Amino acid sequence: MSPQKSDMSENNSHLPALISRSQIETRVTEIGREITDHFAGKELTVIGLLKGCFIFMADLVRAIHLPVHIDFMEISSYGDAQQSSGIIKIVKDLRHSIEDRHVLLVEDIVDTGLTLNHVMELLETRRPASLHIAALLVKEVKQELRYPVEFRGFDIEDHFVVGYGLDYRGYYRNLNYVAIVEAESQMKLF
Ligand code: IMP
Repeated sequence: MSPQKSDMSENNSHLPALISRSQIETRVTEIGREITDHFAGKELTVIGLLKGCFIFMADLVRAIHLPVHIDFMEISSYGDAQQSSGIIKIVKDLRHSIEDRHVLLVEDIVDTGLTLNHVMELLETRRPASLHIAALLVKEVKQELRYPVEFRGFDIEDHFVVGYGLDYRGYYRNLNYVAIVEAESQMKLF
């Protein structure tokens, strides 16, 4: 997708939108419908990977018309802020067992896929009835993900993006759309 000039003034930010609030709303509703159809007649445990998932997950679960349980995991990745090393540490584990439950793992963005590889491997050891991935954004270029992203919002090119839960150094999570942040030298906060 390419940036849209008409969305530049959204949320009073200087950052032009890559994906507008209305595009996100439409797509999240569609994914919710896909998930509802896919798991029809079943209960779902929706697991969010903190912190980036929190806005996407809040909207997504309200678009899923099934009985759902909610849980969260927070992991930290070693390496610098903009690059995943793929080595993760669990900062906050799930509160509940997922054994024999249908699990949907919600991630904000898949970049290299290394984070999800580790989390999926870990969750598989806990014997869920099924395990699927929903991601708002998927960067296609560097993909090393060994699992399919069955429910995906948007495929994007290799830009560093913020907003709708995604951060740059802790900022911009409250932007209500997704924007590209260019080279660090060009960044100014708000
Ligand atoms: P991966 O392990 O390379 O797939 O990285 C996944 C994690 O890195 C995401 O959950 C984000 O926390 C972070 N990340 C990767 N790309 C971006 C980005 O463009 N903006 C903000 N965070 C990102």
